[in-house]
Amino acid sequence: MPLFPQQDTSIVKMKMKKILITGASRGIGKAIKERLAGEYELVLHASSPDSFKYDIGKHALLCADFSQPEQVQHFCKQLKKEHGDLYGVINNAGLTIDNSLLFLPERDIETMLQVNLKAPILIAKQAAKIFHSQQRGVIINMSSIIGQTGNAYQSIYAATKAGLVAFSKSLAQELGRLNEQHQIRVNCISPGLIDSEMSAKIPQIELDKVMSNIPSNRIGKTQEVADLVAFLVSEQASYINGANIHINGGLY
Ligand SMILES: NC(=O)c1ccc[n+]([C@@H]2O[C@H](COP(=O)([O-])OP(=O)(O)OC[C@H]3O[C@@H](n4cnc5c(N)ncnc54)[C@H](OP(=O)(O)O)[C@@H]3O)[C@@H](O)[C@H]2O)c1
Repeated sequence: MPLFPQQDTSIVKMKMKKILITGASRGIGKAIKERLAGEYELVLHASSPDSFKYDIGKHALLCADFSQPEQVQHFCKQLKKEHGDLYGVINNAGLTIDNSLLFLPERDIETMLQVNLKAPILIAKQAAKIFHSQQRGVIINMSSIIGQTGNAYQSIYAATKAGLVAFSKSLAQELGRLNEQHQIRVNCISPGLIDSEMSAKIPQIELDKVMSNIPSNRIGKTQEVADLVAFLVSEQASYINGANIHINGGLY
């Protein structure tokens, strides 16, 4: 019998980093879930458990309708209580209610501001507290090309998405000052036209117009955005901070 028996490495398991994905029920969020599963422990979110039309398996679930401020508040409390070891947040949930500003009811303006901007800000605030105590963490906010180009009938959606870019850049700078020894990174992704339920609602005439301005001559795949997310949360992206990364096939 050897004096120092070799350690059986098969039973020494590394603890996986834990990542929250909001809006994971469908579209881009679901693709992110599929891309990160296996490599990370996941906390999945949607407005309701009924939104998930697939088996979430062993992943944790934390649901809230982000248009309701008290649900966002409760969500953040739960996040702190149940997932104090969080490593990453993908603020992906979002919606658009397209209409001329002249006819857009104030409650629709409120809904877009609440879901697309205020909820991600409050979630990032909660996450930043966790990350500050752990001296590590990543936040990715899902913006949109519309936040930079603007678009008729999407003025509020555009404002929320532009807000997310400014918020991400500012938070990256702030957290850099608070955590001089260890890095907490905050980045933004700005997709162009991506194949999902959201883009399926765009009228054909508008779609044709957009398609004619995409040098890659096709709509983007949700998996392509998910691949970018996977890279940005990885160690390989450790020097990417405060950035807004475009993924749009060259759309102009
Ligand atoms: N698709 C594109 O072309 C495109 C382009 C640029 C940016 N984006 C951005 O990418 C993100 C994902 O878009 P997608 O195309 O995957 O959209 P999607 O297919 O419509 O999915 C939206 C996700 O957000 C969640 N969500 C919507 N309203 C919510 C609410 N009130 N409370 C909580 N969660 C809510 C949905 O959950 P439920 O299932 O529970 O409703 C769903 O999981 C969005 O932020 C969007 O603005 C998309």
